[in-house]
Amino acid sequence: MKEQIARVQAEALEQIAAAGCIKELENARVAILGKKGSLTQVQQGMKDVPKEDKPAVGALLNAARSAISAALETRMQELQKQADAAAVAGVDMTLPGGSLPAGGLHPISIVREEAVRILRRMGFTLADGPEIEDEWHCFDALNTPPDHPARNEKDTFYFDSGKLLRTQTSTVQARVMERQAPPVRIICPGSAFRRDAIDATHLSAFNQIEGLYVDHEVSVGDLKGTLEYFLKALFGDDTAVRFRPHFFPFTEPSFEIDVLLQATGQEPRWIEIAGCGMVNPAVFENIDRETGKSLYAGCTGFAFGIGLERLAMIRWGIRDIRLLIENDVRFLAQFQ
Ligand code: DAH
Repeated sequence: MKEQIARVQAEALEQIAAAGCIKELENARVAILGKKGSLTQVQQGMKDVPKEDKPAVGALLNAARSAISAALETRMQELQKQADAAAVAGVDMTLPGGSLPAGGLHPISIVREEAVRILRRMGFTLADGPEIEDEWHCFDALNTPPDHPARNEKDTFYFDSGKLLRTQTSTVQARVMERQAPPVRIICPGSAFRRDAIDATHLSAFNQIEGLYVDHEVSVGDLKGTLEYFLKALFGDDTAVRFRPHFFPFTEPSFEIDVLLQATGQEPRWIEIAGCGMVNPAVFENIDRETGKSLYAGCTGFAFGIGLERLAMIRWGIRDIRLLIENDVRFLAQFQ
């Protein structure tokens, strides 16, 4: 039995040393230690060993088993190392890594950030309001009569509840004034929604920056100076700006502002980028009536709503507003 153990151990160690890959080593392990393995078979001979010899033979068997296990473990590590080295053979680990394409800001985000930065420098602070609005904040507070076309189902997205997707960020004017005493100097960048037909200059979901300046003795000169300064800071000193008389229920007088769009391959053309005007006293009265206070009596102010997509079109000479929502990476990559 003792010789048998010594022989099986010697053979096993040879087998292990001869294994040339992990698979062969695994086969060797099964051939030695498996159910019908060589060492397992010798071990089964224990039952025939006389009682007095059992401790010595048992000790030999244990020693053989540990020697074999240790050899298996060592060989496994060697083979694993060889396999790892083979897997990266020919790879130059000192080469710099390849770069992943980085994302960038959408042109609307870029122009929004620039516009907000300029307006904040001029003393405006940021305000916010919900996109799902009630009719009061979107229309009534802003002096829009019940039969005004903007309130029509054809122009506005209504929910069954009677709420609506705000058609303009001017809602925030009402929201700020009902919770704050004058003076007010706020801007609000945000989305607005209309059931408009989509074309080269219109989207049904678009972005605006609203502005409201309320104090005492604010004049049309302040309005014009503020917006001209803003547009020149954004587009450059030689930007051509034009104010046209217009009508909005919440301002009197009201204007639309056009800026010259110079898109490549097109004749320069004026596009409307904003509405503005002097806050209609009826708006102040509506707020005071609603809050039961008379905070805004005797105030004057101006307000404006600028289309962000339109700003982006002028800034980069984009001829079609739809390019801004098509998510074509070839278009978007130009702004990085
Ligand atoms: N809310 C208007 C629109 O969406 C734009 C506008 C016009 C905003 C005049 C104003 C304003 O604050 O005073 O067409």
